[in-house]
Amino acid sequence: MVTSQIEINFASNNVDKIAEATNILRQFSIKVNPVDFKVREIQASNIEEIAADSAKATAEFAGKSVVVEDAGLFISSLMGFPGPYSSFVYQTIGCGGILKLMRGIHKRTAVFRSAVSYCEPHHEPRVFTGELEGKISLTERHGRKFGYDPIFIPDVTPSKTFSEMGLLEKDQVSHRFKAFKKLAFWFLTGKEEP
Ligand code: IMP
Repeated sequence: MVTSQIEINFASNNVDKIAEATNILRQFSIKVNPVDFKVREIQASNIEEIAADSAKATAEFAGKSVVVEDAGLFISSLMGFPGPYSSFVYQTIGCGGILKLMRGIHKRTAVFRSAVSYCEPHHEPRVFTGELEGKISLTERHGRKFGYDPIFIPDVTPSKTFSEMGLLEKDQVSHRFKAFKKLAFWFLTGKEEP
């Protein structure tokens, strides 16, 4: 019997995200085909809306189904900042700027959120979300280098920042893992993950 492998077209120009999505979906025997563009990223107050809008526009433009992901770091004592502005904030003040904003602040809780959106041309997008709670470290602690990884300590591994974890370790607990796992469940069963 020949069974065809499930494949998704992942629209992202971020090599770290593509590597993580590939690792995560391999665990569910789903292959990731990178699409190296995504159409527009609106400014909105929630990442679900940003991902859904981009998935719809990209699917129409590409003429095929696509998956788009939007992620953000939400810091409690900064009222959820940088949240949906995480990309701009990373490019401007970066991890160092966030640590400066947090100087003298004892409450360091934060959550990383991921919104993964799947869309076929002429259809409405579906969105799957994942989040992971943690803390903002006092200093940058580097291993692998990706975005805010050097300053985010997940509560599930309180001795390591995301950056100090091996990629395979991150890909079993991360916000991205949780969102892509829901997408995989839906692809494989046609149902929402309970
Ligand atoms: P976006 O989803 O590409 O808009 O990402 C928002 C910002 O968060 C970018 O600056 C990324 O570098 C950063 N980012 C997204 N996902 C992660 C992650 O898993 N770890 C660390 N930084 C991330």
